[in-house]
Formats: sequence, structure tokens, C-alpha cells
Amino acid sequence: MPEETLTTKLKRIKEETGACILAHYYQIPEIQQAADHIGDSFALSKLASELPNELIVFCGVDFMAESAKLLSPDKTVLLPVRSAGCPMADMASAKEVKNLKQRHPEAAVVSYVNSTTEVKALSHICCTSSNALKVIRSLPHKQIIFVPDKNLGSYAAEQIPEKEFILFDGYCPPHEDVMAIDVKLAREKHPDSLLLVHPECRREVREMADFIGSTAQIIKYAGQSEHGSFIIGTEEGILHPLKGQNPGKTFHMLTGNFICPNMKKTTLGELVYSLENMHFRIEIDASLAKAARKPLERMLEV
Ligand code: 13P
Ligand code: SF4
Repeated sequence: MPEETLTTKLKRIKEETGACILAHYYQIPEIQQAADHIGDSFALSKLASELPNELIVFCGVDFMAESAKLLSPDKTVLLPVRSAGCPMADMASAKEVKNLKQRHPEAAVVSYVNSTTEVKALSHICCTSSNALKVIRSLPHKQIIFVPDKNLGSYAAEQIPEKEFILFDGYCPPHEDVMAIDVKLAREKHPDSLLLVHPECRREVREMADFIGSTAQIIKYAGQSEHGSFIIGTEEGILHPLKGQNPGKTFHMLTGNFICPNMKKTTLGELVYSLENMHFRIEIDASLAKAARKPLERMLEV
């Protein structure tokens, strides 16, 4: 019998296990093609809580799989590569957030979903890049402690001047690496393109953009725009859905190395191996999970 390819093997194991595969837009094209659903952080975390499948494989980074587990505690959630983490999430410790809360007792802690479960457990509400403004505007609090992304936080502060923001000093390394000079060079090379950037970019980059939005919002904008050419200011995995959904349009990356190494760790081989061996299972201590689930549920209610 001929040896099974990874794709047919995956199909077979999926049928045997009833697994549902979720993949973030930053995953490699092979993983996005293999997934049952692709999406941004918000869509995937919401979907995880609604799916009927008992087994979810999250092709992304650890905080995403943990959020899925928090919202679906009775399901088995697998993260194919244990070391696929998010450096930004790891920048904010629970101790630092506790200190901020003590110093600003009137403030609401809003944590970006790109945070650890411990930090979520200390938060009033979570948000993603697609709903941060809506979530913050929904709060009665005048003061907002925003963790961990100073860039998404400063973007929210610019849009919601009536509130006072206390920003944590975290950032996403691939987005933080992009500077105004990169925009200048890209604009010179592609003068007829619109620049679409993620709010995790620095303020100097956001100020030069034609549109600022989450990955899903960038995809929607490019699809609906009359324009035919775009410079993309976020992780290069997004080119897969952008090109797939818009065959007549052109997309240029803002820089040549806009890559999140952690998002690239999951390969088809890792995914198959994960399902074959049912690892790495996300397990969260029950009392921690109870506290961390609340801010996620509040976000979904908004
Ligand atoms: P979104 O999926 O919310 O656009 O966030 C991007 C991101 O950095 C995920 O790690
Ligand atoms: Fe974290 Fe940035 Fe990678 Fe997203 S792109 S997982 S925020 S390091």
C-alpha cells in the first residue's frame, strides 16, 4: 500500500477523532488550508466556545489555545507545538498587574487576549484588536489600565480621549520592529498602494496608514475597497487569505521580514503528530480558570 501523505493522514485522524482544527491568519499556508476555520483572535475564541466538537486543535500560540480552553472547559484543547508562545503576552506578569491595580484602585484592568491566564484572572475584561475600542467604551470606568500592548493601548487612548489610560510597556516584537522609515521606503516603491496596518504597530507607523485594523478588519477592508493595490503592515501569514480572496488585487508587505517566529512553528507534520498523540493538552488549574474565564465572557457579552 502506498505511504499516506500528511494531508490524507490528517483527514483520516480528523475523521477518527472528530477534531476541529482552528488556525490563525498568521499560520503558514499549509496549516490555513488544512484548518476547518481560519480567523483572527476574536473570531476564533468566540468560535471555540460555540463549536459542537469535543476536541479542538488550536494552530496558533499558547494564549489562544488557553482562551479556547477557558471558554470551553469541558473540551479537549490541543496546542500542536508547546513552545509556540507570544513574547508580548509574557512581558506582563501577574505581580506587575497587581502593583498597577494597587496604585490605581479606581481603574478597570483591560487585558488584551494576548496575555497570560494569570493576568486575565486579574482583569475586569479582555479585548482583542478587533473589539478593543468597543470593549473600553462599554465600561463605566474613567481610568483604564491597559495590558500588555502599549501600541494597541495608545491607539485606544487616541480614539477614546474621554478616558484616562495607564499603559503597560509591552509590545509585539514583529510589529514594534517596523518604523516610519519602512513606511517611507514602501510608499516610494508602491506609490499607488493603500497602507493597511495592525494597531500593534508603533504610533509613528499608524499615523502614516490609510487604515488601522485587526487582521480580520484588514482582510475585510481590502476586499471591499475599490483600490487594487495595498501595502500590508502586519504579519505575512495574512497574505494567504488576502491573495486567496482577492485574485485581481496586489499586496506588498511593508517590510521584508514581517514574521512572527512563534506563529510559524506549527507545520503539517506537527499538527498530525499532535492529533496522533493527543498533545499538548491545555490544562488550567480550576480556580485560576474560574477567575480568568470571567473577563473573557464579559468580552463576549459586549
Ligand atoms: P488579531 O488576530 O486580533 O488581529 O491579532 C493579531 C495577533 O497578534 C495575534 O497574535
Ligand atoms: Fe505575539 Fe506578536 Fe506573534 Fe501575535 S504576532 S503571537 S502578538 S509576538
